[in-house]
Amino acid sequence: MKPGLKSIPGPILAKFTDLWRFYYTRNGTMKEKIQELHHQYGTLVRLGPNVVSISDARMVEDIYGIKAEFPKSARYTTSQAFIDGEIVHTVFGTQDKTEHSKLKRPVASIYSMSSVASYEPLVDSSIVKFVHTLNERFISTGKICPIDQWFQYLAMDTISVILMSRPMGFIDQGRDVDSLLEHLYHDFNRRLHFGIFPRLDRLLTKNKLVYWFFGNMTPRVFLKASQLLGERNEIRKGKDNEIFPHEMGRDFTSRFLEQKQKNPDGISDRMLLAYITLNIFAGSDTTAVTMRAILYYLMKTPRVLSNLRAELAAANLPFPAPFSLTNKLPYLNAVIKEAMRIHPITGAELFERVVPASGLRVRDSDLVIPEGTTVGVTGWTVHFDRRVYGADVAVFRPERWMREEKESEEAFRERMDRMGRADVRFGKGSRSCLGRHVAELELFKIIPVLVDLLEFEMDPPDKEWEVEYLFLSKQTGMDVKIKWRQGIAKEEILG
Ligand code: HEM
Repeated sequence: MKPGLKSIPGPILAKFTDLWRFYYTRNGTMKEKIQELHHQYGTLVRLGPNVVSISDARMVEDIYGIKAEFPKSARYTTSQAFIDGEIVHTVFGTQDKTEHSKLKRPVASIYSMSSVASYEPLVDSSIVKFVHTLNERFISTGKICPIDQWFQYLAMDTISVILMSRPMGFIDQGRDVDSLLEHLYHDFNRRLHFGIFPRLDRLLTKNKLVYWFFGNMTPRVFLKASQLLGERNEIRKGKDNEIFPHEMGRDFTSRFLEQKQKNPDGISDRMLLAYITLNIFAGSDTTAVTMRAILYYLMKTPRVLSNLRAELAAANLPFPAPFSLTNKLPYLNAVIKEAMRIHPITGAELFERVVPASGLRVRDSDLVIPEGTTVGVTGWTVHFDRRVYGADVAVFRPERWMREEKESEEAFRERMDRMGRADVRFGKGSRSCLGRHVAELELFKIIPVLVDLLEFEMDPPDKEWEVEYLFLSKQTGMDVKIKWRQGIAKEEILG
């Protein structure tokens, strides 16, 4: 045990073995356990012999801020790909700062706001298909819609279209195509559990010997991406503008190939496939969880729903509305932020980082957490810090992100700064979400469509969702009745 850790409280077993953490992670109660332990012990809690959870929102900056040099913990190595017997380092999974920069530099511009704008027509195509399909399958038949699943279909097809101009076929088929979702789910959970024992992951799932005996264990998502990419390249070959006229937008692959032309040595074809697969992993379930959270809290909070509808009505948006209009709507902005605050994306995990040689000084204390300790925060504690977000942290109240009537401009700015510093919706610092603009493009386009055109009601109305806190905080049980809103000219929408 490291001397500086001795004074940090926590369950006795957790101080001696990581099996304590494994037990609660495995049975899905780790998220609640972390919250409960912080209530009991305060802002620092030992979750393992070398793992400390921190709930003081002020320390987010100390760990993840621009000046902090805390590398990711070994947990993330479980997210390195293992393809054809070789470990392929990914921008998400690597711990090494230099390697991270090397992997990120050639592609960073592809995720920038200006590149992302070119994906908008592709997102539109997905949204139009989604609304048509909801109408055919549920609205016109009166059948109950498991919208939690349908959001995942939408998210998968949309990210796939953004990446390769080809949907995976989830919306068309209305089912788990090639069991990809099931595969993703198991893969995430493998990473979650092995993440507690990363050496075991390396030994069992990234092992040349195992590969030699059992053959190719290339993930199914990788194979699917490879197939779609082949189809895409075949269609686009030599006639890019005919098949995909400019107004259809340029996909991630087009952007990637442009970068490759500029930098032929730095970017390989294998890298393209690795990026596409990483984006499918990082950018599908996450967006679906967020869409569910937004719709659920809107259904459960009629006051907010009607405020949002008033804002959308006043904006008189076309279908589907351009991102350049929707992202300027203040109430919509506040609704999206608040849903992501109250329903953070991760489940059982901390955003784990390793304390560097300088140690980590604990706020309002003389304690310094020693070098080598794994530390981290989770949205489930820092987003609920009353000193930052107010006494009503448990309430879905988008107004907390807006200026109050009697609040001075300065006080408002100061409050927003404080909230911003504690905000880990998209992570924080140099390892924060690379796909944030892509995710926001999707959210700012789909939410106005759903809220402005359609009426959703849980079936039965007082039903609550179920949430499983594993790799992500994934919701199920969102069975809804869907109707067109009164006064909507659905024929115009459906064309
Ligand atoms: C609402 C949807 C999304 C949420 C809430 C979200 C959240 C996050 C969070 C919290 C992290 C940091 C994780 C950590 O430090 O452990 C992260 C990283 C990342 N995300 Fe997202 N994400 C979303 C959508 C996307 C999309 C659409 C893409 C791709 C197009 C994407 C790509 C990535 C990548 C590549 C990283 C790793 C960045 C690095 O380590 O440098 N994400 N995301």
